[in-house]
Amino acid sequence: MKHNLITSSITAAFIMASAAATSNAVASEKEIQANDLVEMFEKLGGKHPGYRKAHANGLCASGTFLPAPNKHFTGAALLSSGELPVSLRFSVGGANPNSDEKAPGTRGVGMQIKLPNGALHTFTGNNFPVFAGKNPEVFYGFLSTLLPDENGKADPEKTIAFVENNPSVQANVLWNKTAKTPASFANTEFFGLHTFYFEQSNGQKTKFRWNIEPSLGVKTLEKAEVAKMPSEFLADTFAQQLKDSKVSFTIMASLGEAEDSDIDPSKQWPSERAKVALGTVTVNTSGGDACKNTNFDPNILSAGFTPSADPILRMRSPAYAISFGKRLSNQ
Ligand code: HEM
Repeated sequence: MKHNLITSSITAAFIMASAAATSNAVASEKEIQANDLVEMFEKLGGKHPGYRKAHANGLCASGTFLPAPNKHFTGAALLSSGELPVSLRFSVGGANPNSDEKAPGTRGVGMQIKLPNGALHTFTGNNFPVFAGKNPEVFYGFLSTLLPDENGKADPEKTIAFVENNPSVQANVLWNKTAKTPASFANTEFFGLHTFYFEQSNGQKTKFRWNIEPSLGVKTLEKAEVAKMPSEFLADTFAQQLKDSKVSFTIMASLGEAEDSDIDPSKQWPSERAKVALGTVTVNTSGGDACKNTNFDPNILSAGFTPSADPILRMRSPAYAISFGKRLSNQ
C-alpha cells in the first residue's frame, strides 16, 4: 500500500478526529476495555454532555417492518408475526452532535423492531462494508494515531506506519479513500458487518451477515454539489423524500459458508454468497425525539437469533451501555 494512498484517506476516514482532541497517545498493547474506546471517542470528537459518545448527530424516524419469511429462518418470530413497528435513528459518525454533514465518511442507522410479545430485534449498521480492525485492540490503536499532539496536530506518519503494520485496517482505509458524501440517509446502504446465527427448532443453524438496501438507490454527491449544500441538510432532505415518495429499505441476509470468518468484521465475505431478504422497513415519519432514549445495541436480538463471538461485536454492548448511562445522566 502506497504512502500517499493512506495519507489522503486519513481525513475522510475519520472525521470524528477534531481539534477538540487534547492529548497524543501511542498504540497500546494492553487489552482494551469498552470504556477505553468511549473515552477515545470523546478525545477525538470532544466532550458533549447528554449526547451519544459516537454517532451524536442523528435523526429519529419511525415505520413498519414487513417480513419476508423464508426457509433459512423458519420459525423466527421476527419473520412470522406479520407487520411490526420499527423505531429508527439515522446518524453521522463521531462524537460531535454538530458534525459536518457535507463531509464524506461514516453514516449509520439503528433499527429496532418490536415484536408482539414486547421483544426487540435490532439492526445497527454503518455505510462501510468492512471494519477498521480485527479486534478492539487494533481499532483502538488505529484511533490513537489520529490524536493530535500538544500542538494540536496529528502526525500522518504515525497513522501511515500503523496502517502498514496492521493489515486488518487496510480495507476500511481504502474504502474511505473513495467514499463520497451521501446524498441522503434514504440513499445510503448500511452494513451489519458482524456475523449472526439463527437456529431453527430442529437445530439447523443459519450463519449470516446482513445489509440494508435503500429502495431509492444509493446516491452520493459530487464535490460541486456538496459545495452548494448547507452544512446541515440530512433531516430536511429526508423529510422531503418522505413527502415525495415511498422511503423503504430491504434487510438482506448473506448466507455464510464454512470458510467465511464469523469473528472478524475486517474480513469481507465473497460477494457471490447467496442472499435472502428478511423483510422491508417502510419509513412513515421522521424528526422528533422518539429515539433519544433508545439504546440501539446490536446484540439485542429476538428469539432464535444469537450473536457470534466476534470481539468487536461483543465490545459494542458494554460500550453502548456506558454511553447510554452517561448521556441519560447528562455526562
Ligand atoms: C468496538 C467497536 C465499537 C464501539 C466501541 C462502538 C461504540 C459506540 C457507542 C458508544 C455508540 C453510542 C451508543 C449510545 O449512546 O446509544 C455507538 C453508536 C453507534 N454505532 Fe458503534 N461502536 C463500535 C462499532 C460499531 C460498528 C461495527 C458499527 C456498524 C456496523 C457501529 C455503528 C453504530 C451506529 C449506527 C451507532 C448509532 C446508534 C444510534 O443511533 O443510537 N458501531 N457506537
